[in-house]
Amino acid sequence: MFLVMHIIHLLTVILWIGGLAFVTIIILPMAIKTPDALQKVLMFQRVEHRFAKLARAFNLITGISGIIMLYVTGWYSALFTSGGIPLTVMTMIWVFWFIMLFGLEPLVIKKMLEGMAKGGAKMDIDAIFIKLNRMHYLMVFISLLASVMGVLVAHGPAFF
Ligand code: HEM
Repeated sequence: MFLVMHIIHLLTVILWIGGLAFVTIIILPMAIKTPDALQKVLMFQRVEHRFAKLARAFNLITGISGIIMLYVTGWYSALFTSGGIPLTVMTMIWVFWFIMLFGLEPLVIKKMLEGMAKGGAKMDIDAIFIKLNRMHYLMVFISLLASVMGVLVAHGPAFF
């Protein structure tokens, strides 16, 4: 059971963080370089629309497989202890993502993109996209940090 969950956890993390990195490193800079404001917004909106659904599924699968691993090993008792810092950090980053994907993204980002598509001419869309790209880089960094924490849990010194 643990091994199956570990494999599912790792593969889902690869797809999720890999997808996020692709949007950040390839798609957003391409959108920024697109001269027409409306095209820029529509292109990113389409990608975001498709990827957000997948990211929500990846977030749930990562969380569920992680919780099952904690349950079968009893490692949940290490959460919020000094010996369980990597596990706690990884879990907190997951909670941050859960709030982002199920709370903020549908309420804030989606509305912001719709607003830009409608009244784009009045906004400084280029500046917004550059900020959006910086924010995505930060989120890639945070996600990689969660992955490093995961490797420390799996292969680091005995924490528990
Ligand atoms: C942003 C979310 C997360 C990311 C990016 C992430 C990433 C990772 C990675 C890369 C590993 C290392 C696997 C390996 O080296 O073989 C790992 C292991 C692990 N993760 Fe996560 N994880 C996340 C969320 C969670 C959550 C929410 C839990 C549980 C509540 C969890 C529990 C575990 C456990 C128990 C292991 C250790 C498996 C072992 O010892 O073999 N993870 N995670």
